[in-house]
Amino acid sequence: MKETNPDRVFIFDTTLRDGEQSPGFHLDANSKLRIARQLEKLGVDVIEAGFPISSPGDFEACRRIAREIRGATVTALARAKREDIDAVWGAIRDAQTPQIHIVLSVSDVHIDRKLGMTREQVLKRGAEMVEYARFLCDNVEYSPEDAGRADPDYLIETVETMIAAGANVINIPDTTGYCLPYEFGELVRRVINEARGCEKALFSVHCHNDLGLAVANTLAALAAGARRVECTINGIGERAGNTSLEEVVMLLRVRQAKLGLECGIDTTEITRTSRLVSELTGTPVQPNKAVVGANAFAHASGIHQDGVLKDRLNYEIMKPEDVGLADSKIVLTARSGRHAFHHRLSRLGITLTDGKDDVAWQRFLQLADTKKEVTDEDLRKIAAMSETNGHEGNGHPPVTDQLHDHNHVADAMRHLIFG
Ligand code: KIV
Ligand code: ZN
Repeated sequence: MKETNPDRVFIFDTTLRDGEQSPGFHLDANSKLRIARQLEKLGVDVIEAGFPISSPGDFEACRRIAREIRGATVTALARAKREDIDAVWGAIRDAQTPQIHIVLSVSDVHIDRKLGMTREQVLKRGAEMVEYARFLCDNVEYSPEDAGRADPDYLIETVETMIAAGANVINIPDTTGYCLPYEFGELVRRVINEARGCEKALFSVHCHNDLGLAVANTLAALAAGARRVECTINGIGERAGNTSLEEVVMLLRVRQAKLGLECGIDTTEITRTSRLVSELTGTPVQPNKAVVGANAFAHASGIHQDGVLKDRLNYEIMKPEDVGLADSKIVLTARSGRHAFHHRLSRLGITLTDGKDDVAWQRFLQLADTKKEVTDEDLRKIAAMSETNGHEGNGHPPVTDQLHDHNHVADAMRHLIFG
């Protein structure tokens, strides 16, 4: 399980397990399989296919994924119970590289209030279940749940115990999204440095986004020596979601020179994967979502559009092509400038005749104040009307002229500001 290249980060995708378990995100077996195929194309190292004990449908989905996927390790989740582990093994044993993932709490909050057990009982149960899972499968991951709120000394004792019992991946979850990046980084560093036997295990992290820190905490853990990241497409997952795969992967790529880390993801498959997950879960991606939101490569204000049209480097830190998008977008709104207006006209193959430019621009401003976005169709009309002195060629006076009186002061101001 240990990798020889110390800078290689393994991507563990849990869209089909943690992502799918959030309310409203249910996926049937066919949809799960389609996403798993796309994750394989994307180049993830591990696919967590589901929680087989939870329902016959999920068991079957995990089994189909395990039987078909060949390019990635296939894992599934079990609580520290024999019946869960048996269900996982039954579902994934035909995978090319199967892995059993066991979760058992480590924080006192969970041990007292959820499990009603003692620390000693939890250690014993965890170790017994890891041994049992190792008897079935060569690859066993142990997740001490709620590690982010646990006593670090007890966490270290737990990690040592599970490695001794045969776990070869230790995952440190910030289950409640509670940690600050420097705290979480410090916790992971301590565990890796102090747990006996740590050289026998790969260290993974699993962060939730309750305070919007999942990616930052993941990054802190990588800086501290973790080399596997659990994440989901579009950041979906319990409550506020998990570390977003696309964000962490593009972070590694865009800041490679600074971070010195790499992963095996084909980033040009990111947009396709994000859209597939959004379509099959029926949940749109928020427009301003980093990397995959509809606005992530869209420029709307005159100042930004002018800058980006002069040189993309002015406002783009990554290329749209790198995430599988054809191009960035110059969106025409009431905040756009003349440079963007001309750019979009020229992309439509429209050149205004001499003297018509100001008229067309004024018409554009009038219209832009009345709607969210000026479309290609609007531009064609604006150009045609400007060339024909205000008529669209259908005999009717132009709609935009009715707005002229109301808007001319605002237009003049905008003209002065944006050119
Ligand atoms: O959030 C969590 O702790 C989990 C574990 C199963 C890793 O999802
Ligand atoms: Zn989780």
